[in-house]
Amino acid sequence: MSDAATKTVEDLTETEAKTELARLADAIAEADRLYHQEDAPELTDAEYDTLRRRNQAIEARFPSLKRADSPSERVAPAPADGFAKVRHARPMLSLANAFDDEDVREFERRVRRFLNLGEDETVALMAEPKIDGLSASLRYEDGKLVQGATRGDGTEGENITRNLESLDDIPRSLPEGVPAVLEVRGEVYMTKGDFVALNERQAEAGAKIFANPRNAAAGSLRQLDPEITRSRPLRFFAYSWGEISEEFADTHHAFLEKLEAWGFTTNPLSRLCETVDEVLAVYGDIGERRHDLPYDIDGVVYKVDRLDWQQRLGMVSRAPRWAIAHKFKAEQAETILREIDIQVGRTGALTPVARLEPVKVGGVTVTNATLHNEDEIRRKDVRVGDTVVIQRAGDVIPQVVRVITEKRPAGSQEYVFPERCPRCDSEARRPEGEAIRRCTGGLICPAQAVERLKHFVSRGAFDIEGLGSKQIEAYYKDGLIDRPGSIFRLKEHRRKLIGREGTKITSTNKLLAAIEERRTIGLDRFIYALGIRQVGQATARLLAIHYGTLDALRQALDAASDPESEAYANLINIDQIGSAVAKDLIDFFHEAHNSAVLDDLAGELTIEAFAAPAADDSPVAGKTVVFTGTLETLGRSEAKARAESLGAKVAGSVSKKTDYVIVGADAGSKAAKAEALGVATLTEQEWIDLIGG
Ligand code: IVH
Repeated sequence: MSDAATKTVEDLTETEAKTELARLADAIAEADRLYHQEDAPELTDAEYDTLRRRNQAIEARFPSLKRADSPSERVAPAPADGFAKVRHARPMLSLANAFDDEDVREFERRVRRFLNLGEDETVALMAEPKIDGLSASLRYEDGKLVQGATRGDGTEGENITRNLESLDDIPRSLPEGVPAVLEVRGEVYMTKGDFVALNERQAEAGAKIFANPRNAAAGSLRQLDPEITRSRPLRFFAYSWGEISEEFADTHHAFLEKLEAWGFTTNPLSRLCETVDEVLAVYGDIGERRHDLPYDIDGVVYKVDRLDWQQRLGMVSRAPRWAIAHKFKAEQAETILREIDIQVGRTGALTPVARLEPVKVGGVTVTNATLHNEDEIRRKDVRVGDTVVIQRAGDVIPQVVRVITEKRPAGSQEYVFPERCPRCDSEARRPEGEAIRRCTGGLICPAQAVERLKHFVSRGAFDIEGLGSKQIEAYYKDGLIDRPGSIFRLKEHRRKLIGREGTKITSTNKLLAAIEERRTIGLDRFIYALGIRQVGQATARLLAIHYGTLDALRQALDAASDPESEAYANLINIDQIGSAVAKDLIDFFHEAHNSAVLDDLAGELTIEAFAAPAADDSPVAGKTVVFTGTLETLGRSEAKARAESLGAKVAGSVSKKTDYVIVGADAGSKAAKAEALGVATLTEQEWIDLIGG
């Protein structure tokens, strides 16, 4: 282990951080493989979590060092059939529904009849909000959380212990004195605020947008990588139990109090009521407050409070006789869809929004509703001028539920989703398998320009002293810069710059001098500065190594737009460049607006060909090498980094153009292919000798 591995994240130098990220990426990948593919983990969960947390902390401190193959971006490989199944010790029940007051009164009469209670006997009922999430069961043995499961079909659920463990509302251990076996059940949910924020992050990342907090909670909980669940803001309300080894309460309300005392969160709006009129009043009260609650609820659950009575009442067709769910009505309204607007986010994602004739739904006036994406519009066949049903069924953002086709005006046209960005007219592309269409004109699109310009001058890119985020925003707003090339023409606005409030002549001179200094730049930095999707510093460097000059890169990517071409084969043969990255690169260079930006920059700058350090006297400079099998002396990442630093090109697969294949232990088809093609193969030791130890 290197020294870096023993240092705290705060103490790492940049070089050490880089080494550490490489080590962690290898260690996490290996742990994932052992856990998911071999079912033979060598690390404890805690050790594994420590590695991931350290990786995240280093990336947070040195964002520019984040690797193309960063573990934080990777979903762990799926085990053969997703989650393991678990049988519930006691079935997880569902609830019968009541839709109006009379259903509720009938429920209470049924309870009385079943228990043969007299008129004057009080049937105390607990009224609890019905949380709109998904239920989970937590099994504690001797006070330790040993298993967490989804409801599944009620009899058999999925083992999601590691995911549930990461919720703050779920204690991993309970205080002394709890029953030896205790199953606590409740609802996993996401608050409305957290849901909106999550969707914003998802949209920025081009990832799945969730329709409502419930879907977001479900999608976040059923993640094969517990690290993803951990990063999502999930919460838990406890409200029921499964198997218990000893009784510890006589009433449901006393049970809830015990849960609180043991560290669980129970819903604060739950009320103990003595009559049906009282529960109906609570229903009305909770219903009125529904929209102000931070989480979604879809009704109120009434439960017979006495546990001995619950026991006698038992269940019928998988629902208890002692409980009922009084549902809220879905809040819908009809209105006219005036227009479909396409919004462009900071990362170029195109999102359709329905502009509506204002209408009141659930006490709020709604003027916009989300249409999610282009498939959704097509599926519902939503057209401008349609009368639509919109809904706020707890969802924070109203949705278009359906079109009332009978009210469709004659001559209406099917909606055609734009294939060009409405803000900058660049092509908007939708990669196969993705739901989101994106503008490819990042550098000039006004929706994205400021972010891109900030990136352009950031540390790993042009790194211009005196030109930070604040200045970029101000100069863009004042029209002094609008595209990367205009930074190098700022000197023409010297007077205006000096005239700006608080700007001194000396600092303007300094800034202009700093800009001049950057007129010469390395190709790798230049590529990184362009802010192409998925092209970080490491990938930019690989591209610079492989193509050498900007012209060669542009020509190659132009030719690579034909997937049958040799240029395309060469591109994806660069180690770590897969078809998704290739697609983003090709799209970027294909867009005419981006070409104009590149021409503009090329006129302002001297872009230096990538100079591989020590390449001249290295025997592997310019050679294409492939590593395969397990390397014993060097880690795979380190071996690649060494090869690249000596001027070699590291490829992912063997072809006629390969110069050397370095064969480690247990090498598979690549070694065989090298042999078949007559490509030189080296053992790890021979390689080390060749590069001079
Ligand atoms: S009691 C036997 N209480 O509603 C007890 N369920 O429609 C069964 N739910 O599967 C559950 N809030 O996921 C209970 N306060 C609450 C609830 C609640 C939400 C869910 C739960 C259940 C579903 C039945």
